[in-house]
Amino acid sequence: MTQVIQLDPESPQPESIEQAASIIRDGGLVAFPTETVYGLGADATNELAVSRIFQAKDRPADNPVIVHVSSREMLDRVADGVGPKAERLIQEFWPGPLTLVLERKKEVAPAVSAGLTTVAVRMPENRIALELIRAADTPIAAPSANVSGKPSPTTAAHVLEDLDGRIDLILDGGATNIGIESTVFDITSDPPMILRPGWITREMLIEIAGPVSCDASSEGMRRSPGTMHRHYSPRAPVILIAADSPESIEQVCRDRLKTGAVGFIGHTRVNIENVNFKPVILHDSAADYALWIYSALRKLDKQQVSIIVVEGISDAEEGAAVMDRLRRAASEVASAEEGYPRG
Ligand code: TXA
Ligand code: MG
Repeated sequence: MTQVIQLDPESPQPESIEQAASIIRDGGLVAFPTETVYGLGADATNELAVSRIFQAKDRPADNPVIVHVSSREMLDRVADGVGPKAERLIQEFWPGPLTLVLERKKEVAPAVSAGLTTVAVRMPENRIALELIRAADTPIAAPSANVSGKPSPTTAAHVLEDLDGRIDLILDGGATNIGIESTVFDITSDPPMILRPGWITREMLIEIAGPVSCDASSEGMRRSPGTMHRHYSPRAPVILIAADSPESIEQVCRDRLKTGAVGFIGHTRVNIENVNFKPVILHDSAADYALWIYSALRKLDKQQVSIIVVEGISDAEEGAAVMDRLRRAASEVASAEEGYPRG
């Protein structure tokens, strides 16, 4: 059984933080909240501890994890080549949901970087996360605290669902307040490259760092091996429908209801009265989608739907990160121009 400790997110109890920190120092695994999603942490300088993360998550060994630090000084223990561009980005966005890919120092356990010469680092904004890292006095390697391939966890209950019995402790600080993972930004290349879109948008990065290349092309894939794996997927297949008229969204749901229970996540109030239709209605905004999308996917899975129809939102600014996750979760992407999939 994995122990769960509830903490006050504004002023976490020091004795619980100390208990968690000592587990980390001893090579154990602790899940903790960040402002984006829950992370599964281990001492980033301890190869055995880091290998336990991969085991607990069933994570492929070629998918590197992010190192979390609590101060600018701690960054120097894990990374080299922190130039003026990096300093400006740190000044502007840390603590916060921006992960920087930098040159790796030897102190970092090789498993963290999955054989790459670089290391991805961020300073989270969540108080529990920061105090845990500070108390452990070591950088903490932490991927999202879900079983590999599943939607990321935004509550302690999600972590328990996936990892009960596989990890030592969960620090429960309530729901996370962004809901999707950090932006991963590789500043070892010129121009720097967005490897994973997130809450810090392309526009925000350009303003601080100048020109940015941004893509999920083969080059991006090669640099960020994690982006090649299946991601964010519930058990039921997901169909993503580009933002479109309420009538066509409704039609797709009706068609799919002929073959089984249908989950729906969207902002259109679809007018279908059927016990097999399970809607989760969100606001038409990137913030609301980011906050709720993973828990909605998990909830519909529990309701045993046979398919989940997701209505997309605009790809602009923060919407790009949400749509990136939805495209990866989807087994089908449909739009009005291409014609809708029929079930
Ligand atoms: O918001 C977040 O980033 C959350 C919280 C817990 O901090 N963490 C997270 O970790 O989402 P994870 O492991 O689920 O995603 C890490 C991403 C993967 O796409 C991985 O391939 C990429 O970062 N990554 C890690 N190290 C890298 C490196 N050295 N070079 C390129 N990409 C790297
Ligand atoms: Mg993840």
